[in-house]
Parts: sequence; C-alpha cells; structure tokens
Amino acid sequence: MTAPEPREGIMELRPYKGGDAVLEGFAEPIRLASNEGALGPSPLAVAALERLGPELHRYPDGGATAMRQALAEHHGLEAERIVCGTGSDELLSQICRAYAGPGDEVVYSEHGFMWYKMTARSCGATPVAAPEVDLTANVDNLLAAVGAKTRVVFLANPNNPTGTAISRHEIERLHAGLPEDVLLVLDGAYAEYIEDDWYSDGAELVEAAQNVVMTRTFSKLHSLAHIRLGWAYCPTAVADVLDRIRAPFNVAGPAIAAGLAALADREHAVRTRAHTIQWRDWLAAEASKLGLGTTSSVANFVLLRFPDTAGRTAHDADTFLRQRGIIVRTQDPVGLSDCLRISIGNEDEMRTTLAALSEFMQD
Ligand SMILES: Cc1ncc(COP(=O)(O)O)c(C=O)c1O
Repeated sequence: MTAPEPREGIMELRPYKGGDAVLEGFAEPIRLASNEGALGPSPLAVAALERLGPELHRYPDGGATAMRQALAEHHGLEAERIVCGTGSDELLSQICRAYAGPGDEVVYSEHGFMWYKMTARSCGATPVAAPEVDLTANVDNLLAAVGAKTRVVFLANPNNPTGTAISRHEIERLHAGLPEDVLLVLDGAYAEYIEDDWYSDGAELVEAAQNVVMTRTFSKLHSLAHIRLGWAYCPTAVADVLDRIRAPFNVAGPAIAAGLAALADREHAVRTRAHTIQWRDWLAAEASKLGLGTTSSVANFVLLRFPDTAGRTAHDADTFLRQRGIIVRTQDPVGLSDCLRISIGNEDEMRTTLAALSEFMQD
C-alpha cells in the first residue's frame, strides 16, 4: 500500500502551540499568555459584529477595500500598497512562501518571534538565527548572517518575547546593508505601543525602497485577536505578488466589520495604550524589586528572568502561578527557558499576578 506523501521536511515541523486558554480547576483563569489586549475590544467593534447577523450568507469583499481605505486614512498611507490577511501570521507565511523556498535562507534575530523559524521551514527554506546582544536584535549580527542564499530577513520591532526594540536609525542601517534583492520584513505587531521619535514602524522605508514590507495586526492594541485581522504595507510589486497568492476571500466579513469599528474608536485605543504602558512599567519595576531580571519592554508584556536555583526557576514559577489560576508563557521554544513572558492585563490581574510572584520568591 502506498499513501500520499507530504513534501520533504513537512513531517519534521511541529504544530504552532499558542498560549493555554484553559486551566483545570479554574473556570475563569487569569489569561496572560498570548499578549492579547489588556482591556478587551472596543464596544463599537462588538456592536459592529452584532449588526452583521443578517449579512452572514454573503461573501465579504474579497479585496477588503473599505478596510484598506480606512487603514490608509488612519495611518497616512497609500491604500493600493496595503494587503489584508487572516492575522499577520498569515501574511508572514505568504511573504515567505512567495520569496523563499528550498535551498534559500531566511534570517531572523536569535530570540525572534517563533513563527519566523517555523514558517521558513514550512516553505522548505533554512532559518538562520543572528545572535542578539542583551536580548535585543543586533544589526551587525543580522547583516553578518545574510549571505548569497538569503531571501528574507524577518525582524519584529518591538520583538516578542523580549519586548525590546531597535531605533529608526538602526533599522535604516540594517536596510542600507542588505542586498537589494533581499526582502526586509519589519513586523510591527506591537508598534502602536511606542509613540517616541527614536522609533519608526518602517512605513517610510516601505515607500522609499523596493525591498521593505511592514506587517501589522489588530490582535494587540485593538484587542481583536479572535477575529484574525492583520495587514501588510508593501512596495506595489510585493502587494501585487501577495494579491496573487492569497485565498479569494482571505479576510472574513466579521474581521472587516470589527476592524473598521475598532480603528474608528480612537478613544478606546488611546486608553488601552496608556493603561498598558502604566501597568507594564509597574509590573517590570515591582518584579525587579523581587530580584527578577527584566528587559526594557516597549510592548504589551514583560519578560522576566528567573534564577536557576531549584525551586526558583521559571518552570517552578509557571507551576506556582498555574496553581493560583494564572496562565503565563514559558519561553523554551525561543531558547529562553529561564524566562516567563507575562502579558499586561487589567489592574486586578496585574496585582494578583504580582502578589503570586512575590509569594513565590519568598516561599
Ligand atoms: C511579533 C509578532 N508578530 C506577529 C504576531 C501575529 O499576530 P496575528 O494575531 O496578527 O497573527 C504576533 C502574535 O503574537 C507577534 O508577537
């Protein structure tokens, strides 16, 4: 008997494992494992979803025209260069699929978002990690990792799970050092949490160059992870490529309806950003008073480093927190098994989590 065989390398892939959502013994655990929005979705987005009911038998607009137009107006961009996707994960995969394949290399930063390595492998390409310095992407090391086989460089800025970001100047230096036929993908999933001048999401570089793409998501600041909506800002030639390979109706109608409403609710976004920054900095400062290592996170989570003494490790802390109904995220898949990543939630969730961490460290 013979059976269909998947392409070489597929059976070596492991399925992506997201943060846990359920915890035995807890009807409503505190969920801080997936960097979802701290205050929940905009009420306007929820209302938009409710209004959709009678339209559910219709196909959505396959070009997500209204969404792209609204994004262009909101961010001061060109709508023709925007491609929407079922979460930015999908777009990152499509970019990889379009530009890299067997025999090619895909460069990413050592502790970069784990999807880069996985999606490179799923395209048959070889992922190449560039060492970080102080848990921060390093431009010299990224450039040194680029070789004749490199097709794509992925950089999350800020990065998940380290929370660190590099400056506008460093991004420009990275781009200037890349061959013109290597695509630089600047993943701005957490871009909205930074409003300082030293930072750039890369949109200007997209417009100035032929080989830079910026990806964004509605899953973080807009707190709409459930509806799966992401977008890419591209050179027109790259937008054309992505349009050719995406599925006909890749963005669902509910995602478009909720996304449009969330984008219009600026007050909710401003409140979510301010809350997130306040409690992120509070949690990092309090955790460091407990003797835990922290990075300078500029995203919607903190990364805490635990001692390696038995009973005090990150895995011990994870077990301890789970016993108290709190789910955070271990970081073994990105080589940080001594760390836990904790998403910023509401005030009660933050205070309960800190109290549990404090108890753990004193135990
Ligand atoms: C750096 C980074 N990029 C992309 C994503 C994917 O986001 P989406 O929900 O849009 O697929 C995440 C999700 O955690 C992320 O951390």
